[in-house]
Amino acid sequence: MINVIIHGYLGKMGQTLKRLIDQRDDMQIVCGIDIGLAGKEDLTGESGTVLCSKPEQFKGEADAIIDFSNHAAVKEILYYAKEWQIPCIVATTGLTEDELAFLNETSENVAVFRSANMSLGINLMAKALQLMTPFVEKDFDMEIVEMHHNMKKDAPSGTALLLADKINEVCEEKKEYIYGREGGNLAFDRKQMGIHALRGGTVAGEHKVIFAGPDEIIEVRHLALSREIFAHGALAAAEFMAGKGPGLYSMDDLIG
Ligand SMILES: NC(=O)c1ccc[n+]([C@@H]2O[C@H](COP(=O)([O-])OP(=O)(O)OC[C@H]3O[C@@H](n4cnc5c(N)ncnc54)[C@H](O)[C@@H]3O)[C@@H](O)[C@H]2O)c1
Repeated sequence: MINVIIHGYLGKMGQTLKRLIDQRDDMQIVCGIDIGLAGKEDLTGESGTVLCSKPEQFKGEADAIIDFSNHAAVKEILYYAKEWQIPCIVATTGLTEDELAFLNETSENVAVFRSANMSLGINLMAKALQLMTPFVEKDFDMEIVEMHHNMKKDAPSGTALLLADKINEVCEEKKEYIYGREGGNLAFDRKQMGIHALRGGTVAGEHKVIFAGPDEIIEVRHLALSREIFAHGALAAAEFMAGKGPGLYSMDDLIG
């Protein structure tokens, strides 16, 4: 049995994790922590899960912490992870430089896993792209197109940039990113990689990488149909991290 603490328990991801864990018989939530539980704590765990608003209220044992909370809460859960020697999976995004430095420092004393995209699919796609790139770099043009729902604030998506960076890592001649095209003298320059953002509807997230060569086109596409893909990745990370010693781990370690 893998005993898990969820930090950010009441949130969209916290509740998605709860739904998925409740369907499993090899994993259970021993504690749910959320600032929204202040004044409504159940420290007896009679319902099967201790519910609290601060990490230090939970004094039981656990195999892994999964954090989908807020960047400002990450230091506190890392501190707790170190004190209690529980591997911690940080999926929360938007960490400041100071918070990131604290995370790196903490990983010297306890196992810490961090990924800005917990979906196995996107991380596998990045690996596949790195395998393909050396074969197509010379003769193919490369473009990335992403589409998200109409409420998304930023463009291009962080994941589109992650994919571009992964490709660029293995390019002999590094690409310059250009975002959209407009104008009259735009013959394709292979030194460039176009990254294009489409917005509309309720699309959870689509990323397409296009390698366009002479007389053939390869497209690698990932379509996120729901938030569950991030939760599945986090649960896989929890299984992977249980029992791990100090160090900084990522999706690369999980996928192998
Ligand atoms: N890495 C990934 O693949 C991935 C995927 C989805 C979301 N995220 C990130 O995970 C985070 C949470 O996402 P969400 O959609 O569940 O957000 P959400 O706003 O629905 O939930 C966040 C929860 O954290 C709680 N929280 C905030 N501050 C807290 C504190 N100090 N202590 C304890 N709990 C606290 C909130 O009360 C809330 O219930 C965000 O940073 C998001 O960007 C990452």
